[in-house]
Amino acid sequence: MTNFELYNPTRLVFGAGQIVKLKDLVPQNAKVLMVYGGGSIFKNGIYEQVKNALEGFSITEFGGIEANPHYETLMKAVEVIRKEKLDFILAVGGGSVIDGAKFISAAVKFEGDPKEILYKRMAIRDNAVSFGTVLTIPATGSEMNSGSVVTIAETQEKLAFGGPALFPVFSVCDPNVIVSLPKRQLQNGVIDAFTHVMEQYLTYPADAYLQDRFSEGILQTLVETGPRVVEQPDNYKLAANFMWSCTMALNGLIQKGVPTDWATHMIGHELTALYGIDHARTLAVIAPNLYRVLFSAKKEKLAQYGRRVWNIQGDDTDAIAREAISKTEAFFDEMGMERKLSAYTPDYAATADIIVKRFEARGWAKLGENGIVTPDKVKEIVEMSY
Ligand code: NZQ
Ligand code: ZN
Repeated sequence: MTNFELYNPTRLVFGAGQIVKLKDLVPQNAKVLMVYGGGSIFKNGIYEQVKNALEGFSITEFGGIEANPHYETLMKAVEVIRKEKLDFILAVGGGSVIDGAKFISAAVKFEGDPKEILYKRMAIRDNAVSFGTVLTIPATGSEMNSGSVVTIAETQEKLAFGGPALFPVFSVCDPNVIVSLPKRQLQNGVIDAFTHVMEQYLTYPADAYLQDRFSEGILQTLVETGPRVVEQPDNYKLAANFMWSCTMALNGLIQKGVPTDWATHMIGHELTALYGIDHARTLAVIAPNLYRVLFSAKKEKLAQYGRRVWNIQGDDTDAIAREAISKTEAFFDEMGMERKLSAYTPDYAATADIIVKRFEARGWAKLGENGIVTPDKVKEIVEMSY
């Protein structure tokens, strides 16, 4: 296990009926910008719950933050905050709205061109506007981490950034919000969280026994609840365990003291940027092939995962590791994922070359644990995914 620091200042308020607590969570006398997405909160009653809880507060609303939030839209919210001199952001939505709030928070007081936050992948340490969240879809963990992914629509680029000043002050997570989610979004949430764990777990053995058990526990809980929660989102037991698993998958805990990969995400973000494919679905296309291409580096951990998460028996490490990849694919299939890029776009032939060129232009020659995901490997993984 390597040395680490754990810092997570987000107050997580979890459970049924907790949105009413907003009145104690949002600072009194704050001038709030409430940001939300395309309007689902009006249909499922979440908007009403938030407004009722915050009766008497000064709230300006900014809606229309799209899935895979656009820099261009977020800059309009930045202007509203500057003009109206607002001092707190409340994000009511999923990863896209929360990530959008993080960018807005970082950009308001940023001196210079805010696009640089994205292009230079800046670590935002101070001068951010405080924000809280009401989570409406379990998936990204954005409600309890300091990362964000923003799309520049003009150039079709999807870029990640973050920093210690970008943790939400609080996040309200009421599992009942999932009742109104379309099945596709529920499936996405399960697979996004599952892949978050894999990115931080499926590398090489690092003598981090507890982190491994945390990760395996989250994976097992997602396997146990995922297929059922997408059929019965009104089952509170399933909803609560699903939501908590998604938060725990990416709130920083399981990555401490261990190597991490994240190449599946980096490649996946390009597929969303180029073709508009849902984030989680890009991961299901890429991940199994990444495990195949990097088999020799990952096989010890693949076999551990196969034994402990999928109960595969035997002594042959290679055979168990291969079966573990097949089990993962079968799970993705069960969760309604397509696993070929050609299922999403007929124009996939040049994708590998485009992605490799983009990575090279950004100086990303060595992704993954120990930099093992080099441009030739990226090309092989993407071509295998056509
Ligand atoms: O926009 P509205 O109308 O609200 O509809 C949304 C959206 O269309 C809908 N929705 C959300 N809650 C709902 C609901 N519909 C009915 N009932 C509800 N309760 O669901 C759709 C998807 O929402 P979105 O926020 O885009 O989903 P998700 O949470 O999966 O977020 C995806 C974004 O997060 C980024 C992704 O790249 C993507 O941009 N990620 C952020 C991460 C982070 N900050 O740590 C890590 C992830 O790996 C990921 O990259
Ligand atoms: Zn993700």
